Order: sequence, then C-alpha cells, then structure tokens
Amino acid sequence: MYLFFKQTIVLIVVLIGFLGCQSSKNEASKPSVAELKEVKKKAKSAIMKVGGTLKKNLKKTMGAKGVVEAAKFCSLSAVPLAKKVSATLPEGVTVKRITLKPRNINNKANDEEMAVINELELSKKNGNMPKMVVKKLSSNHYQVYKPIVMGGVCLLCHGTSSVRDAGAYKEILKHYPKDEAVDYKMGDLRGAFLVNITK
Ligand code: HEC
Repeated sequence: MYLFFKQTIVLIVVLIGFLGCQSSKNEASKPSVAELKEVKKKAKSAIMKVGGTLKKNLKKTMGAKGVVEAAKFCSLSAVPLAKKVSATLPEGVTVKRITLKPRNINNKANDEEMAVINELELSKKNGNMPKMVVKKLSSNHYQVYKPIVMGGVCLLCHGTSSVRDAGAYKEILKHYPKDEAVDYKMGDLRGAFLVNITK
C-alpha cells in the first residue's frame, strides 16, 4: 500500500513536470493577439494577389476558350504566373499551395504541412474549420495556412471520372502523368495556401 502511494506521488510529480514543460513551450511559440492580426492581414493580402490572379485567369480562359484550353493554361501558365505575382509581394512574404494529393509534385505537403492539413480535415469534419491557422516558428518567422475548398467548377479538372471533362483531363495527363489531384467532391478540402512571413 505504502509502495503504491509512493509510486502514485512520483507519477503525479512527473506528470506535473511534463505538463509544465508543455505549457511553457506552447507559450513561447504562441503568437499574441496583435501579432495574429498583423500576420493574418499580410497573409490575406498575399493570398488574394497570388490565388486571386490564378482564379481570375482560370475563369477568363474558361469563359473565352473553354475548359480544354483552360486545362492547357493551368498546366503551362499557372506556375509562371504565380511566380510573377509572387515577385510583387512584400519582402519576406512567400505564398505556395500545398496538398496531400498533388498534381504538380512541387505542391506536395511535407510532414509538418501534412500534419496541419490533417488537423484542418479533422476540424472540418467536426464542423469548425478555421479560416486560417497561424504557426509561430520563431520570433521572426510565421506560417499562415488558409484552407482551399473545392467548388463546383473545380471538379471539371479535379473531380471523379464521371464529372471531369474528358478532353481537359486528357490534356492535363499529358503534362502531369502521375496526377493524384482527382476524385474530389464539392466542398472537399483540396489543400491550403501556405504563406511564410519572415521579418
Ligand atoms: C481547367 C482545369 C482546372 C480547373 C477548372 C481547376 N484546376 Fe486546379 N489545377 C489544374 C492544373 C493543370 C494544375 C497544375 C498546375 C498548377 O500548379 O496550377 C492545378 C493545380 C491546382 C492546385 C495546386 C496543388 C496541386 O495539386 O498541384 C490547387 C490547390 C488547385 N489546382 C485547386 C483548384 C481549385 C480550388 C479549383 C476551382 C476553383 C481548380 N483547381 C480548378 C487544373 C484545373
């Protein structure tokens, strides 16, 4: 009995120590309210520039030339266009798109990014997906994740085989023979914009 008591005390002490360390670690990497506001504002503006440009040009090409030409546009021009717009972002701000199922292999999430996307997926299932997730990696490096959700028009090139545009997808496979970015349904989480902000 005495031994059990002693072991319990030791366990409690160890647990308190462990939780104590945990909370102080989280405290150090937790951005303040003011920081959050500033970082989110910067991220929003950067995503609007890069993501907005991509979406606008996709829509324009689809409307004017149809979905097959739009597939060609996305395959050939989306990356250089995103690069061009990225060059106009403020110093220390970069934007990329990440996903668990990439079309362009450069957009495949690494382990850390994957963990955040999985968190987003879980919170989406529970009906409370955040608009943005902010991570403070160090005193001058922040990351902002903004979920990308599938809309109806996206399914023409990212949907199931019965929904996809056959001609457009044939074009896409020419450029991305190892494409994984299909079989999405409307409202699915496609991935995220990831904004890196260094000061
Ligand atoms: C006309 C075909 C087409 C349509 C419609 C389309 N996409 Fe794409 N998508 C592509 C192609 C091609 C790529 C690969 C080139 C690139 O990096 O953008 C791509 C890449 C992506 C990526 C980068 C991740 C990856 O897998 O490489 C995301 C995110 C994405 N699309 C989301 C969307 C969303 C959201 C919509 C709807 C608003 C959409 N797409 C509509 C063809 C399309």
